[in-house]
Amino acid sequence: MEQHRSHNPNPNHQNRPSAYKREREDNGRNHCENKHSRPNRPQNQSGPSRGQNPHSSLSLSTRKELYERDFPVYKQPVEVGCFSLDSERRFFNDGRQMRYYVEPDRSPNLDLRDGYKDRFIKRDDSVKEKLDHMLRWILANRSKLSARGATASSCDLDIDFVTWRGHLTKLLTAPYETREGWQLAVTRFRGTLYISEVETEAARRDQENRTERHEEMMYWGYKFEQYTCADTVHGRPDPGGVLNTNEAFCTVVQTRLADHRLLFSGEVDCRDKDPNAPAAPACYIELKTSAEICTPKQRSNFHRFKLLKWWAQSFLPGVPRVVAGFRDEEGVVVAVETFPISKISHLIKNEQNCWKPTVCMNFCSDFLSFVKHIATEDNPSVVYLLSWEPRRDVTFSVHRDSPYCFLPHWFVEEMTSSQPSHQS
Ligand code: A3P
Ligand code: MG
Repeated sequence: MEQHRSHNPNPNHQNRPSAYKREREDNGRNHCENKHSRPNRPQNQSGPSRGQNPHSSLSLSTRKELYERDFPVYKQPVEVGCFSLDSERRFFNDGRQMRYYVEPDRSPNLDLRDGYKDRFIKRDDSVKEKLDHMLRWILANRSKLSARGATASSCDLDIDFVTWRGHLTKLLTAPYETREGWQLAVTRFRGTLYISEVETEAARRDQENRTERHEEMMYWGYKFEQYTCADTVHGRPDPGGVLNTNEAFCTVVQTRLADHRLLFSGEVDCRDKDPNAPAAPACYIELKTSAEICTPKQRSNFHRFKLLKWWAQSFLPGVPRVVAGFRDEEGVVVAVETFPISKISHLIKNEQNCWKPTVCMNFCSDFLSFVKHIATEDNPSVVYLLSWEPRRDVTFSVHRDSPYCFLPHWFVEEMTSSQPSHQS
């Protein structure tokens, strides 16, 4: 539990979004009709950039130097539920897709290319699911989330932010990211801020222009999961079976970062099959693949770039370990190693110019404060679109009744009209 707690002796920093700049005394709530506006502005430039986004009044810096404070409070994440997506991407409010980790041999020889051509069903990633599965889970579990001590008529959630773990991972790593920007759509509805990613133009282009080799390499990570996971506690992995990436098991966790109450969900690869393993999320295991490390330069890059992503992804939901399969050029896993998340910061400490967990968490905390500050109108058809490109500040634009709207009618209506149904 201690790994997630760090009590800051200076309470002042927690509520103060220190790195965001007031640029103009307008309200930032104006209706922005241009759904494609991509507000980017160089750091430290004051005043709105002409012709791009005249309505923004604030921006937030991602410069890492601004976030080197004490580690913020991050409460031990608690699993409040889980859900599963089946081979056709249908939602189930249960853990039927949970898998169990089976350790590979000491000298593994796992061919990750096997089955790519003939036993692979790939999820259609052109279907944008936004927050829909999480929203389904919320409706099915509302009574667990309603405000404590609230009156019978109140059905607001006792939560500041609802999002995917993957979106938070992008926030944690932003101060160190030099290649890929992001866009996050935010809607305030009944006091809760919902955050859902919008695909950037650059990401869409990259996806369209992927090489065949890249497409195949994306399969390798899933194949490693198939070699190391069984469907039942006493079962064996079935590497000869069909691999279908529609299937998923997701944990839903609740936690607090500084004064932000968070509810988020993330896909979990598998769990420890030992019946005496600790309760979720502490029994969960994240599986990863990475190129074999043969030179000091490769080791340094692994520490500086890969371990940052691995740490951020698992630290957020309280998943305590990553099991990594190291593969050769041909896509054969030749070594498997476990990385406890709590040891990663020691592993990187001799690395020059390396990332720092405190910078990641402080940036995320300040970003959430920034969102609370700007996304003031409580309205399911208003989207605050936060945009970021490396070496720029985070900026935003406001969109009303636009294609950016992401809270579906079925969610808004159910949340507005009915009481939570009590689950046992
Ligand atoms: P690796 O993690 O071994 O690269 P996750 O690790 O998050 O559970 O994701 C499982 C696998 O999905 C990844 O395995 C990789 O094969 C694929 N994948 C996920 N996100 C990806 C991305 N942005 N680009 C390429 N591959 C991705
Ligand atoms: Mg994984």
